[in-house]
Amino acid sequence: MQIDRSSKMTRMQKSITAYFWLRLLALGFIIHGCKAESSRQNTEKTPEKKSIKSGQEWYDTDGKLIQAHGGGMLYHEGVYYWYGENKDTDTKFPRLRTDIIGINCYSSTDFYNWKNEDIVLPAVKDDPGSALYPQNVLERPKVIFNDKTGKFIMWFHVDDSLYQKAHVGIAVSDSPKGPFIFKESFRPLGFESRDMTVFKDDDSKAYLVFGSGWHNKIVIAELSEDYLSLNGSYTTHLHTDGPPLGREAPALFKRKGKYYLITSGTTGWFTNPAQCDVAENINGPYKTIGNPCEGMYAEVTFLGQSTHVQKIQGKEDAFVFMADRWIPTDLKNSRYLWLPVQFNKNNEPVLKWINEWDMDSYK
Ligand code: GAL
Repeated sequence: MQIDRSSKMTRMQKSITAYFWLRLLALGFIIHGCKAESSRQNTEKTPEKKSIKSGQEWYDTDGKLIQAHGGGMLYHEGVYYWYGENKDTDTKFPRLRTDIIGINCYSSTDFYNWKNEDIVLPAVKDDPGSALYPQNVLERPKVIFNDKTGKFIMWFHVDDSLYQKAHVGIAVSDSPKGPFIFKESFRPLGFESRDMTVFKDDDSKAYLVFGSGWHNKIVIAELSEDYLSLNGSYTTHLHTDGPPLGREAPALFKRKGKYYLITSGTTGWFTNPAQCDVAENINGPYKTIGNPCEGMYAEVTFLGQSTHVQKIQGKEDAFVFMADRWIPTDLKNSRYLWLPVQFNKNNEPVLKWINEWDMDSYK
């Protein structure tokens, strides 16, 4: 791995040290909140589910623990496809990370029962120069469909194990079930890029949304028509002095013509308050609404971190907030939090903990 010795990088390294200590301080807290259960696998098929119960072990239709962390979702021709990080290996110390196994895909027609469609973008084990070599980082995959080319385009965060490369990667497939073919990774428009998402608007324009500059801003950059590159147009938002107050884990959705951007603070695997910002235009200006979470554990996003907001088809005004409840010392056993997004009388998103819910929970 190459280390850039520029003054910028020195500042970064100081930030990394501070970041690391912050994580250690928070460790006791998170372990208290999340029970690190074993990576138990059911031997029998999972009974059909009719609801969502956040924070519990979730099994696919074959009875295997679901591995789709930092995930995103695509709805295509009557099927939901859930893409996420396969972390089914040991967590490495002292840096809390897992080797890359690949990106998993699960499919569902009812949103409750998920069929494993296997690894759709695997690690490249035999080429230490590959961005997808296991010792690197592959996170937060998001897939969008290009209506003109008929291709499924996956964007994701790729990095070295110290998070200094700060690249986005692109992979392409002819099918939502893959295989996705890795194209390239790079710093978008020259910016460092870490946590990211992609958002496809109603007019089919699509945007890469990423945390940049060691978490001191969020960049929204328009994709080219084929979604395989950036067209050069971008805006920057949510400027801060960086961790722990920087913003990351972006999840962007649109409702009634307004754009809502939910982010987390920057405390690594450790929880912090979420924030929601709203804009009339994708390129802002974004106005802060504050923490959308209400009730017990609202200040720690119910022990979760945002990853995506999914619109439910066939229901008016139904959105699901998707988050990861990380278990830093045992990442493969991290849990998923999915909560219905509610809206208050000012049309501001509200997230409340609900033990169990289903599609009838929406009006
Ligand atoms: C978080 C980020 C995760 C992962 C983690 C590594 O801040 O949201 O996706 O990168 O840091 O520590």
